[in-house]
Amino acid sequence: MSIQEKAYAKINISLDVSGKRPDGYHEMIMPMQTVSLCDTLTIRREGEGIRARSNLRYVPGDERNLAVRAAKRYLEAIGEEGQGLRIELDKRIPVGAGMGGGSADAAAALRALNRAYGDRLSREELTALAAEIGSDVAFCLVGGTMLATGRGENLQPIAPLPPCHIAIVKPSFSISTPELFNKLDRAPIRIHPDTTGLIEAMEQGDLQGVCRRLYNVFEDVDDRRMRSIRQIKGELLDGGALGAVMTGTGSAVFGLFEDAEAAARCCAKLKKEYGFAFVAESVGTLL
Ligand code: C5P
Repeated sequence: MSIQEKAYAKINISLDVSGKRPDGYHEMIMPMQTVSLCDTLTIRREGEGIRARSNLRYVPGDERNLAVRAAKRYLEAIGEEGQGLRIELDKRIPVGAGMGGGSADAAAALRALNRAYGDRLSREELTALAAEIGSDVAFCLVGGTMLATGRGENLQPIAPLPPCHIAIVKPSFSISTPELFNKLDRAPIRIHPDTTGLIEAMEQGDLQGVCRRLYNVFEDVDDRRMRSIRQIKGELLDGGALGAVMTGTGSAVFGLFEDAEAAARCCAKLKKEYGFAFVAESVGTLL
């Protein structure tokens, strides 16, 4: 057995936090979109235990890797826990970027294994397993365009992003998700995004209306790295983006362009300056 699966990154078109839950997690309100930037997973039946190997040296090969954890949970769920697996990860999604790289790998492992084992788990069972592995894994499993609420695991389909080109830029620094949530808790959130208006604009195919409503509450936390984020957003807008916002807890920022050439030009310039830039397109449902 050798199976391949693409692990697509996500962006948060906007991101709102409506409160903190008794379990320590936060209540999220996030219109999310799958994008064409992706890792590639190859899974083989081999040896004992489950291990991953990646083109990036600092990506762990043991259970700290979400794809390994997902594969282990999947085999347990179908009663095949004795099976050895090797997962090869060709990583292109930057790590610590807010693009759900680790979650996308876990979700891709679940899709690939379920296919290889003859769809032994239903869509509902697979989604429940995904949500246990991490808050963004359920979205990465199903993909497309969804309003994610709760921890991020409650998904409701919404209209896709109007046709546009998505220039994604990541500065050299990364941001830790728990660290930024902690900082968010230290002060009340003063401004919330207009999620309803954003979803309506998407339904109407109104890219300008979408771009006016791009907003991420994490950009307002007291963290000096947000100055760099604002700088990158400014450069995307100067380069012709109709709107720009940070995705998830950063540090990647994306800008939406109507014009493909402007997106490519801006991306080439920002890649020299920041190290990572990529023009992505929207991707539809994966499962
Ligand atoms: O669920 P996951 O392991 O991906 O979450 C990583 C961390 O992000 C959590 O430990 C928590 O600090 C934070 N988080 C949160 N509320 C969410 C999702 C994540 O506080 N809805």
